[in-house]
Amino acid sequence: MNIVASSVAAMCSARRRNIRPAAASVAIIVSPASRGEWPAGPPAGRPARREPTGLGAVAERVIAYFRPRLPTLAHPVHLTLTAPGSGPLANGDPVLIEWALEAVLKNAVDALSGRGGAIDVVVTATADRARIQVRDDGPGIPIEVRNTLFEPGVTTKQGGWGIGLALARRIVEQQHGGRITYQPVAETGGAEFVLEFPLARP
Ligand SMILES: Nc1ncnc2c1ncn2[C@@H]1O[C@H](COP(=O)(O)OP(=O)(O)O)[C@@H](O)[C@H]1O
Ligand SMILES: [Mg+2]
Repeated sequence: MNIVASSVAAMCSARRRNIRPAAASVAIIVSPASRGEWPAGPPAGRPARREPTGLGAVAERVIAYFRPRLPTLAHPVHLTLTAPGSGPLANGDPVLIEWALEAVLKNAVDALSGRGGAIDVVVTATADRARIQVRDDGPGIPIEVRNTLFEPGVTTKQGGWGIGLALARRIVEQQHGGRITYQPVAETGGAEFVLEFPLARP
């Protein structure tokens, strides 16, 4: 479940050993190809699964992971889920979709840390898309990162890695042909992210 955190942990341990993670992974990816061991190019990695994946069920699992970890005392964070049961069914990979939602939700929790507030997760379907909206009433996205927030390495957090939204975009858009977008919430000044996936065909 908590693969985002464990990939961060792996990067932290690389940092402790004084290895720059990006440089280390480039070396791993490039060197066999440059020795001619991959005539057809480097292996592409396991393709995303394409199976009917209930987004309500995915959201339920991710929220169940976060709920016991939310601040409850001085500055409580309230997390709600609105979904039509376990659906709608996206055509996708349940594990990857969980990672993407986890990264977006983690940012909402971070945004409310020390001030409290509400996070609302809403799962819906349109004619051809299954959607997860994550809306918080925190401070919103700082102006200086609004145009680049999905790029790797962009962070406003001390000690941040800036990989959460890059990972989420890769999963939603490259692996699923979906779309992830950000918009400010007019009423509160908070942030809303929308993750859209193609619907599974019946
Ligand atoms: N819900 C949110 N509220 C406010 N800022 C956010 C939110 N989600 C993302 N951000 C901004 O986007 C940046 C990039 O997020 P991310 O890629 O997950 O990296 P990280 O969490 O390591 O900073 C964050 O540093 C923050 O400035
Ligand atoms: Mg993050």
